Amino acid sequence: MDKKGNKNVYIVATIAAFGGLLFGYDTGVISGALLLIKTQFAAQGAKQMTPELQEWVVSVVLIGAMAGALISGKLADIYGRKRIIITTAIVFIFGSAISGLAPNVTYIITGRIIIGVAIGVASFTVPLYISEISPKKIRGALVSLNQLAITIGIFVSYLIDLGFANTHQGWRWMFIIGVVPAVVLGIGMFFLPDTPRWLMSKGKDKEAELALVKTAAPEDIEDELTSIKQLLLSEKNNKSTLSELFKPWLRPALIIGIGLMFFQQFTGINTVIYYAPTIFQIAGFHGDFAPILATSLVGIVNIVMTIVAIWLIDKWGRKPLTYLGLAGMVVALVILGIAFNRAEALGSSLKWISVGSIIIYIGFFAISLGPIAWLIMSEIYPLKIRGMAMSLATFSNWLFNFIVAKTFLTLTRVLTIPGTEITGTDGTHSPNPAGAFWLFAFMGIAGLVFTYFYMPETKGHTLEEIEEHWAKGKTARMLK
Ligand code: BGC
Repeated sequence: MDKKGNKNVYIVATIAAFGGLLFGYDTGVISGALLLIKTQFAAQGAKQMTPELQEWVVSVVLIGAMAGALISGKLADIYGRKRIIITTAIVFIFGSAISGLAPNVTYIITGRIIIGVAIGVASFTVPLYISEISPKKIRGALVSLNQLAITIGIFVSYLIDLGFANTHQGWRWMFIIGVVPAVVLGIGMFFLPDTPRWLMSKGKDKEAELALVKTAAPEDIEDELTSIKQLLLSEKNNKSTLSELFKPWLRPALIIGIGLMFFQQFTGINTVIYYAPTIFQIAGFHGDFAPILATSLVGIVNIVMTIVAIWLIDKWGRKPLTYLGLAGMVVALVILGIAFNRAEALGSSLKWISVGSIIIYIGFFAISLGPIAWLIMSEIYPLKIRGMAMSLATFSNWLFNFIVAKTFLTLTRVLTIPGTEITGTDGTHSPNPAGAFWLFAFMGIAGLVFTYFYMPETKGHTLEEIEEHWAKGKTARMLK
């Protein structure tokens, strides 16, 4: 492949991946910001910051993301991928400014909803954009740059939270810093082309060719143009409405897109991302510093193993990595389940076992469901309804995320066998998270079965080939 074409496409994908950075940063930043917001507004009147209100400050982002994902799918098909990403960057800037400059909690919540909407839109338009500009041989790695950016965003948000933890009204900075990647995304995208696939679907063949000149190897341009054109001809009789997705020929794509999102969320990833310090405290780490340090380690492993995934994803393929990742996650969850069940007997070794297994867990997540759920979703839907279909799968991701995040603490309480509560050094009793870990392990096993029966191997196929595969009425397992 031409060196220059290759290099350009990396730059283009990296700029788009700033959307992933915002996704990670803005979901991660709230844990630290909340502590300061609580103190400040409690000082102004205790009524302002009830636990319910705190929960709202945290979870409105997820609700906003659901809404954003759902409302913008059609827009990405009508107005193009590029315009939607630029608009999203502007929305991010507004949301960050409103929450950072907020005079009261209502403004913070409003700002966070707006940021949530932007996250929801970015979470599917960025993989969509990258997937459509990528050559098939490196598509897995390029789309996974978005997941890498998410993990970096989460980690940076922890560092910024630590950095401003002792600053007067530091939470304002925590939110406002989110403007920086949004500006890079907005300005960067302005100079990039829209995807050749979307441009051709709108009859803009000349612009599509120019876009290919910027991102593909010269010898591939002709082939790409022809196969997109052929696909569009064969799609002429398909409707560009979401109802197409519910037709029998696309049922496998519908199931796999939403199914992978289900398993990505219901194997418990965000209980670790949002509650790791709490889990580490229950396991026996004292104070605030040690649990936060352990959480940072989790963040680093998440980044490093996503890099490993990028390296392997186009070599080994999506399916082997999913098997490996899910199996590793199940083992780690079972160890956590056993360890917390035997908390009393393990004493102080529980904390080390919990850190070790959570690190193993996140490592295996990062090489599998982390990048792959988003990647597969960007590969399996037909061009005509790709934006809409991806927005539906993305909506389900945020809905599942919301359900798990909202119920985790209640779940640990309900699933605690009486008598197995964990006693802290100060004599307080915490519910035992073992039951929740067993439940997630069970979900992981169900995920393995799901992968075997329903997951296609998209490695090495063009998006057009994948669409043709469905059109021939073939099942997901038959795509190898
Ligand atoms: C998931 C997020 C998760 C993140 C962790 C993403 O793929 O969609 O819910 O917080 O990975 O790295």
